[in-house]
Amino acid sequence: MDYRALLALLSQDKPISGGHLAQQLGVTRSAIWKQINRLRALGVSIEAQASRGYRLTWPLELLEKSAILSELPFGIRQRLGSLRVYWEIDSTNSTLLREASTRSGDLHVCLAEIQSAGRGRRGRQWQSPLSGNIYFSLLKRFETGMSTLSGLSLVVGLATIQALSDCGVKNLALKWPNDILADGRKLAGILVELGGEFLGPCYAVIGIGINMRIDQLSGAVIDQPWIDLAQHCKEKLTGRNQLVGRLLYQLLDALDRFNVTGFTGLQNDYARYDFLRGKEVKIDAPQGSFKGIGMGVDMRGALLIRQRDVTHTYDSAEVTVRTV
Ligand code: BTN
Repeated sequence: MDYRALLALLSQDKPISGGHLAQQLGVTRSAIWKQINRLRALGVSIEAQASRGYRLTWPLELLEKSAILSELPFGIRQRLGSLRVYWEIDSTNSTLLREASTRSGDLHVCLAEIQSAGRGRRGRQWQSPLSGNIYFSLLKRFETGMSTLSGLSLVVGLATIQALSDCGVKNLALKWPNDILADGRKLAGILVELGGEFLGPCYAVIGIGINMRIDQLSGAVIDQPWIDLAQHCKEKLTGRNQLVGRLLYQLLDALDRFNVTGFTGLQNDYARYDFLRGKEVKIDAPQGSFKGIGMGVDMRGALLIRQRDVTHTYDSAEVTVRTV
């Protein structure tokens, strides 16, 4: 069910009584009570004040296609194949992957307020409650083969950092291959999935999840140090539609550059945000676990790790890496 109307009423400055809500929405008070409990279960924090009524603990700016498009220059709006905002969907990446072979055109964008089966890297779940996070995917087609796309997820990471910086977010870093960190804790994750012909043409579904406000229940099950924009930026929290607009803008700009130069053209930008450079890290690879020092990335975006006097190269598909 779509709760937009109820959320709009709950977003007002003053609390609103169950009776008023029922009247405005043309339903019974008991239906309102059930809907409020359902919203709470979905991750929305709603305060109930005795004799005054209900109100959202924090304002929730819902995603709106028109508001996102108004953030974009005309030239970019013209290039988009489509832009859809779903209330609830299994996963924005899965949706675009399902459509990629049947739907024509390039640059299809899919967003959702809730993902019932949000996916992270390596088959992990991505917590996707209705609490104001960003669940974003873009379908991008390439004439070339999949081997030309190495480094793509780093490029997407850089564009995400640029979009967050445009919105005033500070102290950001990129932890190879695709975690965006703020003050050393995970703020956003990237899942790039490829399809089509190995030798081309092929496509990438670029999924980006940004923590804007993680509710307690979802936060408790995330198995790594995390942060959300609400904690990181305190009162200066950026608008969600504005952030999605910047994300699209920066992503298309970075993808255009990537099309011309490949990852090499963005290698210097990567070095500025490289979280692992110079740090002692532990690598879990199919051949075992190793410790070494982060030495940046090569021209393809593969991770370079110095172990004793030898520098080893690791591809993102084969390893996980953490600092020690
Ligand atoms: C990770 O860090 O493990 C990657 C997380 C990627 C999450 C995003 S949310 C939008 C898109 N849809 C998904 O199911 N996953 C990605």
